Amino acid sequence: MARTVQIFDTTLRDGEQAPGCSMNLQEKVEVARQLEKLGVDVMEAGFPAASPGDLAAVQAVAGVVKNSVVAGLCRALEKDIDAGWEALSKAAQPRIHTFIATSPIHMEYKLKMTPEQVLERAVAAVKYAKKYCSDVEFSAEDASRSNPDFLCKVFSAVIDAGATVVNIPDTVGYAIPAEFGNLVAYIKAHTPNIDMARISVHCHNDLGLAVANTLAAALAGADQLECTINGLGERAGNAALEEIVMGMRTRKDFLDIESRIDTTQIYATSRLVSQVTGVRVQPNKAVVGENAFAHEAGIHQHGILANRSTYEIMTPESIGIPRNRMVLGKHSGRHAFEERLKDLGFSLDSKAVDEFFAQFKVLADKKKVVSDRDIEAMIVGSAAAVPE
Ligand code: KIV
Ligand code: ZN
Repeated sequence: MARTVQIFDTTLRDGEQAPGCSMNLQEKVEVARQLEKLGVDVMEAGFPAASPGDLAAVQAVAGVVKNSVVAGLCRALEKDIDAGWEALSKAAQPRIHTFIATSPIHMEYKLKMTPEQVLERAVAAVKYAKKYCSDVEFSAEDASRSNPDFLCKVFSAVIDAGATVVNIPDTVGYAIPAEFGNLVAYIKAHTPNIDMARISVHCHNDLGLAVANTLAAALAGADQLECTINGLGERAGNAALEEIVMGMRTRKDFLDIESRIDTTQIYATSRLVSQVTGVRVQPNKAVVGENAFAHEAGIHQHGILANRSTYEIMTPESIGIPRNRMVLGKHSGRHAFEERLKDLGFSLDSKAVDEFFAQFKVLADKKKVVSDRDIEAMIVGSAAAVPE
């Protein structure tokens, strides 16, 4: 039987940290409602100590969301955790998420702390958060550049202190899939009390590997996957929720892992996040890009018209797009052109189709895409056209 992993969405926190993507209270609530509809297990609503506005926004999200855990991010500091709890206390399922960096470079230059001090601070933060909330996640920031044995030591200590989830972030998108999978497996094998907590991963996309690293980690035993809609996030972004979920669904034969996401809500969620943040989705973006289910090449169009599985490994309907899109351009073939004529209500004999197809090819050489209006203009008025 397939293993079910939890999806932790951090669009409202890490996604919002992308330059120019901050969301106001109403926008966060609107996105949160959609994330709940999408079926995320956990949504991270913000960083309450960051600003009074973010505290209020997390509070508002905590007040409306019932079916997902609502998390708030806090540094391993009492004042952050106090703010976190002020924001989360009314949530139906609250989670305090606290973090501190564990890599040599972060400990020395950013925190100016020794590993022993970091360990102590991590444990103190988890114990402090536990006074408020039974569900506490601990993240070892920059885990992928940390000493694996030190990570195991920190995780073991925070689990003893009550952490329910331990998160392994690839904070700077440095990891390579096989390596990151090995790290998860190492932590699983060398942290004595690891069975008392859920293992989470959180991957950034600096090398374009965030989703690959996340899936490698899931295969190695991670049971919570952190991600954002449209891969929004700091620098090159975070692992994209839609890619992880559709990867697991489309390749269930190999991965044997599933999520509880209602995939038919993916497209609506992607559009909403794009609209609210003003960040356009690139046309060739996997799963939700404008071209993800568009076909222009004649050979592809012919294949699709014969059997969609020839060039579609998942259906647009499965992510909530009503249908695929045949784009008519210079690479398109007669078959797709004839289908479009029928869709537009034209009934032409074979000779007329040949003639208009020749005209279409001339036009297609001049334009990137030939629109339905172009085709109509070409045909209307011609004696060959008999509207159905
Ligand atoms: O990238 C990161 O390390 C984070 C943590 C705070 C989880 O966002
Ligand atoms: Zn992050």
